[in-house]
Amino acid sequence: MSKINRRQFFLLGAAGVATASVANWAIAQSHKASSASSKLYKSASGLLELNLETGNRPVTLAGRQAYLMSYNGQVPAPRLEAKAGDTVRIRFTNNLSQPTNLHYHGLHVPPTGNADNPFLSIPPGESLTYKFTIPKNHPPGTFWYHPHHHGYVAEQLFAGLAGLFIVRGELDEIPEIQAAKEEFLVLKDFDLDESGRILPPNHMAMMLGREGQLLTVNGQVNPNLSIAKGGLLRLRILNASPSRFYRLSLENHPLYLIATDGGGINAPIELEELLLAPGERAEVLVRGEKEPGQYRLLTLPYDRGGMGMMGGGMGMMGGRHMMGNSSQTSPQVLATLSYQGSVATLPLPKQLIPVETLPESETVRRFELSMSGMGMGMGSGMGMSFTFNGQTFDMDRIDTQVKLNTIEDWELINVDPDRMDHPFHLHINRFQIVSRNGQPEPYRAWKDTVLVRGGETVRIRIPFRNFTGKTVYHCHILDHEDLGMMGIVNIQA
Ligand code: C2O
Ligand code: CU
Ligand code: CU
Repeated sequence: MSKINRRQFFLLGAAGVATASVANWAIAQSHKASSASSKLYKSASGLLELNLETGNRPVTLAGRQAYLMSYNGQVPAPRLEAKAGDTVRIRFTNNLSQPTNLHYHGLHVPPTGNADNPFLSIPPGESLTYKFTIPKNHPPGTFWYHPHHHGYVAEQLFAGLAGLFIVRGELDEIPEIQAAKEEFLVLKDFDLDESGRILPPNHMAMMLGREGQLLTVNGQVNPNLSIAKGGLLRLRILNASPSRFYRLSLENHPLYLIATDGGGINAPIELEELLLAPGERAEVLVRGEKEPGQYRLLTLPYDRGGMGMMGGGMGMMGGRHMMGNSSQTSPQVLATLSYQGSVATLPLPKQLIPVETLPESETVRRFELSMSGMGMGMGSGMGMSFTFNGQTFDMDRIDTQVKLNTIEDWELINVDPDRMDHPFHLHINRFQIVSRNGQPEPYRAWKDTVLVRGGETVRIRIPFRNFTGKTVYHCHILDHEDLGMMGIVNIQA
């Protein structure tokens, strides 16, 4: 099964000593156990109940003190676990100095009332109880929660507000998967000053989408993951960064994809690399089949476009923030896999979760993803906005009217003049990718966030099921969302 990948060897060779360029204090913290200190809240007798409070306070990040926004004082936020059919009740309190709310990314639950409602606004000092029921036939998977108050999303997520929301089910009960050791990896970048405070992005960083130089996994720098010789490791990975892409590669080890955003796929798929855009999740299995030792989990360079925006101003802007993104030129280390002990060789599962074939749809809509405004030039860019079909977000406008219990194809066309990538995300209902630039997608999978590269056309197929009401779709580069790249879809009975 194993394949020698020359390109990968080349990349690693070229990387040489150019590993993560982080401050010394961070390096000193490497190789701590990966199990984050984040608390776990599990449902019991059909109820997941907790208090969740957000505020600004010092927290430990990568082994030092940082002043972040957190849920219950933890970065990443507590992990929530429930099952299909459970009721969720979260007593939420906002102790930030700005409004916020909660979004349950990927969950198929009502978009209205005190459920997954992105239009709620919880002012500073106030509380709200979220309550909803996860449908009995909800797929198991790796979902997450984060703030979704328009205008504040990128800032609040970047400052630390994100946590996993796991739904357990059939996927977890597959014997080969049950036998695997499970690890959760929350990938999140930060940009801190000497005193541990978040550095505010400059204008350019907001246009491109803010990125930080400090790469963390579960709030740690280069944590250790262990695998037994012969064993299986199940990695459940979330890209919780507002803008950074991760192009993941594990030295000498292929990754066996078993689940995407919306749950399990039909059968494992062997990958050499895994690209995760902001908001995306994936689950992979790793086999402990190599020479015992240490292997690095890397993120490889990726160009997400947009450099045209630099225009003539480039030379004058200077400073570390200017190249705040799209600038990673060498692999960086995210975590280290170490062999520990051995077990009788565990097999990969052959079959996973059947992914239904959706019937073709008669309704096809077009969405042009772009930005408007004139070339940025130097420091200008006022009036620059990000759009769907030429329009920026308007709270009071319904952009897309759909009917409950129908299936639609949406054609997402990235016409961005600077060929910037835009990961498209839809709330509440998952979808399947039909094609990219007319080429059929190689395998069927459920997604809720899909990368639409500069110049690309991606066709997705969405069944609108179970819930009526207004919700949103947007670019998951959250600065773009805050700058208007969001639309409202109304699902009517
Ligand atoms: Cu993860 Cu509307 O977002
Ligand atoms: Cu979402
Ligand atoms: Cu975007």
